Amino acid sequence: MMINLVYILAGYLLGSLSSAIITCRLMGLPDPRSGGSGNPGATNVLRIGGKKAAAITLAGDMLKGLLPVLAVKALGADVTIQSAVAVAAFLGHLYPVFFGFRGGKGVATVLGVLLGLYWPVGLLTIASWLVIAKGFKISSLAALIAILLTPLYVLWLKPEEPVLLVAVIFMGTLLFWRHRSNIRNLLRGEESGINKDGNDLQ
Ligand code: G3P
Repeated sequence: MMINLVYILAGYLLGSLSSAIITCRLMGLPDPRSGGSGNPGATNVLRIGGKKAAAITLAGDMLKGLLPVLAVKALGADVTIQSAVAVAAFLGHLYPVFFGFRGGKGVATVLGVLLGLYWPVGLLTIASWLVIAKGFKISSLAALIAILLTPLYVLWLKPEEPVLLVAVIFMGTLLFWRHRSNIRNLLRGEESGINKDGNDLQ
C-alpha cells in the first residue's frame, strides 16, 4: 500500500517537470507562459522557439508520462496502480508543484501515458492526432478529437480493463477543460493553425 503511494507521488513529481519551461530556459527562449497562447506545451514552444525546441518539449512531455508507467509496470504494479500513476503524471503536467501549479494542457503527456498503459491504444490515439492535424492544420482540434476517440479504442482493444477506461475518460475530461479557450476560439473560427513549415499561423 505504502509503496503504491510512493509510485503515485513519484509519477506526480515527474509529471511536474515542465519540458516547455525547462527547454525554453536552457535554450535562452522566452518563458512559454508569457508568449503566444501562454501555454507551456510543444505547440506554443513551436510558436515562440521553432521546431527544434518544440520537438524537445514534445519528447520530454511524452517521456515523463511514458517512463513512470513503464517503471511501475516493470516493478509488478497492477493495472489500477499503473492507471493511478498515469493520472498522477498527467495531473503533474497540468498542475506542476515546481512551477506554481501553472501547467499545460496535457496532450503530449497523455499520449505518453497511453503508450505506457497499452501501446496499441497510444499508437491509435497518436495516429488519430496526426491524421486530423494533417487534415485541419489545427493542433488543439486534433488533440480534442483524438482524445474523444481514445475511450472507443480502449473499449475495442481492452474491454476487460474498466479501470483503464475510467482513467482515459478522466484524463480526457480534464484535457477538454484545459482546452476551453481553444474550444471558444474554434467555435468562433479564430483558432490558430499550423502551416506546412510546422510554424503556427497566428
Ligand atoms: O498541446 C496543446 C494544444 O492542443 C493547444 O496549445 O498553445 O494552441 O493553446 P495552444
